[in-house]
Amino acid sequence: MEFQSRIKTIEWVDTYSKMVDQTVIPYEYKFVNITGGQEMFDAIRNMIVRGAPAIGIAGAHGVILFAQELAKETSDRAEFIKKLIEKAGYMKTSRPTAVNLMWAVDKQIELIKSSNADINGIIEELKQNAIKLENEDIEINKKIGDYGAEVVPKGATILTHCNAGALATVGYGTALGVVRSAYAKDNTVQVFADETRPRQQGARITTFELAMDGIPVTLITDGMCSYFMKKRMIDMVVVGADRIAANGDTANKIGTYTVAIAAKYHNIPFYVAAPLSTIDISIKSGAEIPIEERSHDEVTHINGKPVCPLKGVNIINPGFDVTPHELITGIITEKGILRPDFNKSIREAYE
Ligand code: MRU
Repeated sequence: MEFQSRIKTIEWVDTYSKMVDQTVIPYEYKFVNITGGQEMFDAIRNMIVRGAPAIGIAGAHGVILFAQELAKETSDRAEFIKKLIEKAGYMKTSRPTAVNLMWAVDKQIELIKSSNADINGIIEELKQNAIKLENEDIEINKKIGDYGAEVVPKGATILTHCNAGALATVGYGTALGVVRSAYAKDNTVQVFADETRPRQQGARITTFELAMDGIPVTLITDGMCSYFMKKRMIDMVVVGADRIAANGDTANKIGTYTVAIAAKYHNIPFYVAAPLSTIDISIKSGAEIPIEERSHDEVTHINGKPVCPLKGVNIINPGFDVTPHELITGIITEKGILRPDFNKSIREAYE
């Protein structure tokens, strides 16, 4: 049986982008329509849409929205192209760490530069390109899921951090794609989901989408993972990624590094599940990955209520950390599972 996720996180519809509003899950499950370029920039920055592959698609949609706006301002094709490429560059700055955003916007920029069409024709081509990327995202995730399912032991408990699920992609998910494919073969598989402070993507989003699909999930707080590993209650870890360097160093949601260290100590396999579009072969190691610093409110408040004194306390809030490649058992991609030496296996995956 194939295990489908019913969620389609983001899609292009005629003249706008329709997406799940992830800021209100689990209280509400609602869609919003993004109709302007700046509105899309803000939706990415404010995490109405989040997760590396999903913000890639959002960025590609953002370029179309800017194109539609510019077409109303000018009928000069050269001016349209120049301004659109500038706007696309701006869209790439909406969040810094997930390289899928830059990757997908660059796909749109390549198209703009190579097109022979008039302004309306370029807009149409940008739409078709975005829809192609959406469809490919789901297909790629299913491949990742199926390769990953091969290394999931029977009856395994899989720990995951943050949300690398259907809601972080167009559908199906990367880390949770592995869970879905494994569960389709063996319904005794279950998930432990880290809460994932400060924004609680694990508590709010991972548990939400797994419960929706009827996949058993247990929520734990971030500090609990070593406790359950020591008790041998975790068989493997599978997480997503925001950017993977050429040597396999992997940026993912803050706290992932801690989980990887705990997994190594307890001799538990630690897998990263990600499409090749998350690999940035232009950077040699994780030291070069830009880490997003987010608003201090995310740490000082939960649901609008302070959780610490608001005066006399210093706050620091990096959104991501980098797990060194030595701690990673394998990187599950649409081309199979890449193993150490990652410099070699990543290069070969691109051949
Ligand atoms: O800040 P977020 O919620 O966008 O961070 C998301 C993650 O860190 C995910 O694990 C990652 O993007 C992989 S999504 C398939």
